[in-house]
Amino acid sequence: MKILIINGPNLNMLGEREANIYGKNTYGDLCARLNDFSNEKNIEIEIFQSAIEGEIVNKIHQYRNYDGLVINPAAYSHYSIAIYDALLIAKIPKIEVHISNVHNRDDFRKNLITAQAVDGIISGLGFKGYELALEYIIATTA
Ligand code: DQA
Repeated sequence: MKILIINGPNLNMLGEREANIYGKNTYGDLCARLNDFSNEKNIEIEIFQSAIEGEIVNKIHQYRNYDGLVINPAAYSHYSIAIYDALLIAKIPKIEVHISNVHNRDDFRKNLITAQAVDGIISGLGFKGYELALEYIIATTA
């Protein structure tokens, strides 16, 4: 089983950006944690990060190479119709993850566009959210 994990803009700056919201751990820490988790679960993961909307769209179009998708579109979650449309095309289990709780922050973060094209969303559980999303995909595709 191979699961694609996509992270959007500024997530590569974890550890440097708003530690009070996102924690002190770096993007490298997140990737290492997910690699360890995938080894434990005996699954393959591919982690892709980009700040460029079109690159994220193009990556989603490769969905046929994967059994599931975990995506944190970051700020694009709140306004990208292009990523929303791409997610509608990707007919595999797909979960949107947010490290922070987007419902108790700025009002504009409550506007969730891409979330309307996924199976479910996890928000506010920190890095653990990615693991829970992987667990869901493992359980639904088993
Ligand atoms: C985020 C929440 C978004 O509102 C924000 O723009 C991000 C990160 C999160 O993981 O909590 O960049 O997606």
